Amino acid sequence: MNLHVLISILISAQLASTADISSLLASSAPIYPISYVDTRSQILHQRQNGTEHCRVFPGDQEWPTDAEWAKLNQTVGGALIKPVPLAAVCHSSWPQYDAAKCQYLLENWGNHELRVADPSSILYPYYQGASCLPSRNPSTPCTIGGSPEYVVNVTTPAQISAAIAFAKEKNVRLIVKNTGHDISGKSTGAGSLSIWTHNMNQVDWLPNYSTAYYTGPAVRVGAGVELGQYYQTAEDHGVTLVGGECSTVGVAGGYLAGGGHSPSGGLFGMGADNVVELTAVLPNGTHVNITPTTEPEFFWAFRGGGGSTFGVVTSVTVKAHPKIPVTVSQWDFSTGPNVTNATFWAAFRAYLEHIPAIADSGSQAFPSFQLIKGDSPGFRFNMTSFFAPNMTISQYDALMAPFFKRLTALGLSVPQHSTFHETYLTGWERAFPKIKAPFDEHKPNTATGSRLFPRKNFEDQTLLNNTFNTLKNITDLGYGFFFYCQRNPAPKGVDNAINPAYRDSAVFLMVAGTWETGTSVAMINTIRNAVSYQIVPMLKAITPGSGAYMNEADIREPDWQQSFFGANYPRLLALKKKLDPDNVFYAKAAVGSEGWYIKDDGGLPEVQNGRLCQTVR
Ligand SMILES: Cc1cc2nc3c(=O)[nH]c(=O)nc-3n(C[C@H](O)[C@H](O)[C@H](O)COP(=O)(O)OP(=O)(O)OC[C@H]3O[C@@H](n4cnc5c(N)ncnc54)[C@H](O)[C@@H]3O)c2cc1C
Ligand SMILES: *[C@@H]1O[C@H](CO)[C@@H](O)[C@H](O)[C@H]1NC(C)=O
Ligand SMILES: *[C@@H]1O[C@H](CO)[C@@H](O)[C@H](O)[C@H]1NC(C)=O
Ligand SMILES: *[C@@H]1O[C@H](CO)[C@@H](O)[C@H](O)[C@H]1NC(C)=O
Ligand SMILES: *[C@@H]1O[C@H](CO)[C@@H](O)[C@H](O)[C@H]1NC(C)=O
Ligand SMILES: *[C@@H]1O[C@H](CO)[C@@H](O)[C@H](O)[C@H]1NC(C)=O
Ligand SMILES: *[C@@H]1O[C@H](CO)[C@@H](O)[C@H](O)[C@H]1NC(C)=O
Ligand SMILES: *[C@@H]1O[C@H](CO)[C@@H](O)[C@H](O)[C@H]1NC(C)=O
Ligand SMILES: *[C@@H]1O[C@H](CO)[C@@H](O)[C@H](O)[C@H]1NC(C)=O
Ligand SMILES: *[C@@H]1O[C@H](CO)[C@@H](O)[C@H](O)[C@H]1NC(C)=O
Ligand SMILES: *[C@@H]1O[C@H](CO)[C@@H](O)[C@H](O)[C@H]1NC(C)=O
Ligand SMILES: *[C@@H]1O[C@H](CO)[C@@H](O)[C@H](O)[C@H]1NC(C)=O
Repeated sequence: MNLHVLISILISAQLASTADISSLLASSAPIYPISYVDTRSQILHQRQNGTEHCRVFPGDQEWPTDAEWAKLNQTVGGALIKPVPLAAVCHSSWPQYDAAKCQYLLENWGNHELRVADPSSILYPYYQGASCLPSRNPSTPCTIGGSPEYVVNVTTPAQISAAIAFAKEKNVRLIVKNTGHDISGKSTGAGSLSIWTHNMNQVDWLPNYSTAYYTGPAVRVGAGVELGQYYQTAEDHGVTLVGGECSTVGVAGGYLAGGGHSPSGGLFGMGADNVVELTAVLPNGTHVNITPTTEPEFFWAFRGGGGSTFGVVTSVTVKAHPKIPVTVSQWDFSTGPNVTNATFWAAFRAYLEHIPAIADSGSQAFPSFQLIKGDSPGFRFNMTSFFAPNMTISQYDALMAPFFKRLTALGLSVPQHSTFHETYLTGWERAFPKIKAPFDEHKPNTATGSRLFPRKNFEDQTLLNNTFNTLKNITDLGYGFFFYCQRNPAPKGVDNAINPAYRDSAVFLMVAGTWETGTSVAMINTIRNAVSYQIVPMLKAITPGSGAYMNEADIREPDWQQSFFGANYPRLLALKKKLDPDNVFYAKAAVGSEGWYIKDDGGLPEVQNGRLCQTVR
């Protein structure tokens, strides 16, 4: 599933309905060129009180010498890389400049594989200051921006330990990149040493796995394994594995650390619920085997407590479930000559009322709905993929009959495209096809907001009315939604650090503001502020005490400890202080990240181009 393509369908900066924003839009000539952030920006933000403690930065006297880096390279067996931006091939200021390679990049930039397989690229280059993008003009600037300074291309735990020890000793910022999918840029950072797990891609089929915790078939995957390879393994062995939607999202990295929603999660539990064992290098450099009996506290925390926090996961072992067939259905309805706004919203309301039944069925329904711009603005509800695991088409039809009956009563005739698939893999390929996109169609700049909606919001009539009216109001403001409907209770016997708000939720939804690369800093701040301080609070107002999914959320959530971790936060923080008292591992809004911030980011919100500092009060 291609999140940013979907997001761009939804919004494309549809904030214009708010008057102050439209005036800004009207004068939206970029005030910065494309590489609007100078890596070595001298802008000082005196925004914190207290004593400041910073990581060293290239150019500092304390920055490790070339000889010291060379020594690290020796220790890691020659696996140290000085990364070159992927798009350097488009810029004559780099020796890598190559017009033919640039052309290829322009045509394929939206294909995730390219950037996933690159040591320092991420999927949302905004967080690197968009400092080096493909371009038809070779004289446009290209700098490394918020990319790491060095990368260790790890394949062994010993290399990871060496990288951690070096970062700690030299006070260098440490980051972890797996696939670079993080939608908030948590796998990049200027002046850092990066542990790149992409090549830890071993997969082991364990048909007779047996411990006191779980006996049955299992699969062990290395830290770098991606979903495509994972699901193919399941297909090859006639089983079903729980994982996410997009073929290039990692299995063992940020996805499982954050909880992990899945098309089969309604049947088998969330991604992290299926982990039976892990291995990880802890911040003190020790490689440990984490099982429910040997390390119960780590076992609890590594499943839901967040990435880049307690160390580097090197492998996970997950349950394999029986093979299941899948029905996938796709359909949509929009306002038009025969469908008034009122009819559209009545149909939407009928959908909200049917949500508990969909969740109970174990399905994952993933519609988006949006305001369509144009001469006669309208609304569209697009069921991109209704994923019904272990169901035939007729079982799916029976589940949805009451809803479609109501649409018929409203005069809406909605053709459905339903297909039956013998296995999970083939259903998943139908529901979440790989996205191929050239650079020009790529919309990578998004400010995401999200919220978990308790099931009661769709059952209690007063709550339902508030939910319906709020979603309608937000859509009227020009925002659309991605709207995952699913049940998420903890499977029997499973206790982990997944956000408790997930457990009684029936819906997880996302909204986003987007902007074009090159948009002014002021405008980007305006869009981000609108999401953070106008839209997300509207969602919170109807879901008090609930939370958001840390992997797909507003990175600037004011009360992120509560929203992303809920009641688990104090327990996770205690473990963080024990395992990583020096905060060698950092990510924005990760456990224990209080007080840390990026200095000299050029004023661009959340961009990772500056030095990492902490205010010690
Ligand atoms: C197109 C798209 C589709 C998505 N679909 C889904 C989905 O179906 N379900 C879902 O739940 N989420 C989904 N997500 C969100 C996804 O879970 C997060 O982006 C997640 O952080 C990706 O993890 P990664 O390891 O692949 O990416 P990265 O960006 O490489 O890493 C993400 C975070 O985890 C840390 N990390 C990575 N590897 C390790 C490791 N081995 N040990 C410790 N920390 C590590 C990184 O430092 C970073 O903080 C999607 C995102 C995108 C962009
Ligand atoms: C620093 O603290 C002082 C006194 O509490 C306060 O007046 C000032 O606004 C603070 N400055 C910043 C940048 O927060
Ligand atoms: C690390 O060593 C290898 C092998 O000797 C070499 O190819 C590579 O360029 C070195 N990396 C750096 C950053 O110097
Ligand atoms: C990373 O290491 C793997 C395994 O040693 C190797 O195959 C690959 O070429 C390396 N990648 C880069 C970019 O150096
Ligand atoms: C798993 O157990 C079965 C039945 O006991 C046995 O036939 C098979 O060889 C075992 N497989 C492996 C890989 O050990
Ligand atoms: C690292 O921390 C773990 C967990 O606290 C501990 O078991 C291990 O002994 C430590 N290793 C070292 C080398 O201190
Ligand atoms: C609208 O309804 C009329 C009468 O039923 C029908 O002929 C026409 O095809 C419909 N138009 C659309 C766009 O559905
Ligand atoms: C339907 O809603 C859109 C978007 O809010 C609005 O622009 C349009 O005027 C409405 N149509 C009617 C007939 O009210
Ligand atoms: C619905 O979404 C899918 C997937 O993004 C897209 O291919 C399709 O064109 C959309 N349908 C409409 C009517 O917009
Ligand atoms: C799938 O459905 C079959 C029969 O309909 C049932 O026996 C089986 O338990 C179901 N599997 C799961 C995981 O729900
Ligand atoms: C919910 O809204 C509907 C339609 O506007 C209204 O008829 C109903 O009385 C409301 N119910 C509650 C409990 O507020
Ligand atoms: C939605 O907007 C209408 C019109 O501005 C307002 O009266 C109503 O209170 C809003 N409802 C909610 C739940 O925000």
